[in-house]
Amino acid sequence: MTKPNLTLYLAAPRGFCAGVDRAIKIVEMALEKWGAPVYVRHEIVHNRYVVDGLRNKGAVFVEELEDCPEDRPVIFSAHGVPKAVPAEAERRNMIYVDATCPLVSKVHIEAERHAEEGLQIIMIGHAGHPETIGTMGQLPEGDVLLVETAADVATLEVRDPQRLAYVTQTTLSIDDTAEVVAALQARFPAIIGPHKEDICYATTNRQEAVKAMAPKVDAILVIGAPNSSNSRRLVEVGARAGCGYAQLVQRASDIDWRALEGISALGITAGASAPEVLVREVIDAVSDHFEVTLEQVETAVERVEFKVPRVLRQVTA
Ligand code: F3S
Repeated sequence: MTKPNLTLYLAAPRGFCAGVDRAIKIVEMALEKWGAPVYVRHEIVHNRYVVDGLRNKGAVFVEELEDCPEDRPVIFSAHGVPKAVPAEAERRNMIYVDATCPLVSKVHIEAERHAEEGLQIIMIGHAGHPETIGTMGQLPEGDVLLVETAADVATLEVRDPQRLAYVTQTTLSIDDTAEVVAALQARFPAIIGPHKEDICYATTNRQEAVKAMAPKVDAILVIGAPNSSNSRRLVEVGARAGCGYAQLVQRASDIDWRALEGISALGITAGASAPEVLVREVIDAVSDHFEVTLEQVETAVERVEFKVPRVLRQVTA
């Protein structure tokens, strides 16, 4: 049977960002330096394939520090942790390595700096996401106010409307965040924000590539995990940019082939925590169903790299 023709547009950039790359390297190098088991507080990055791979090498994933023994090293995930977590590790004399992405740490520092200047912080982010919990946890409980949507701004009760600053989660939708910032500025004209938004280069670039791809395709597959904020935003951005069907898939086995029946152009991208091997798996599966012509939609070239913490630098992973 002849396969239908399909143009497959691959977004670039896609997949691993520098923060995810560094966090995975940190776990691998820690295993090499200290041997197994090495404990990791929370999924190091939100991707089951990556987590399972590290688990097979000897990493043990736990949700809380209290689940780690004192005599084994523990690593904090790329999303960042509240200040109380490293403080507790120190109190228990544990070896710990912080794999918080440097771009998340930058937001932590920003929030602290504003607080030192006497400003009250408003965080734009998703309630319950580890990054939001980590950033809000840089300051005493109750000091940071959370807003998720522009509508939330109307009900905010602040200490002093003249003394406010905002920070954001790094993986939000650029367009939604612009709306929330506009609502904050309309209600609190004196509010201070970051020079350039806190949404990171990787989130920005992946969303831009999807926006460029969306008008060319009938459907988009975003490879990523359901708990990956930046991957879910890519699905929304694709749908909003005019693509009729955008689906989040963890692996090729998740693809809803019936939804792809009759299409002639498909876009593929991957969230910042999804490895390229899964992109290849999806391309191979699509090639089993269609006669594929591959094209790339490249909107940026990334050369960002982050160093691992000094304690691991002598290890060659
Ligand atoms: Fe860091 Fe952005 Fe990746 S904050 S972990 S570079 S998605």
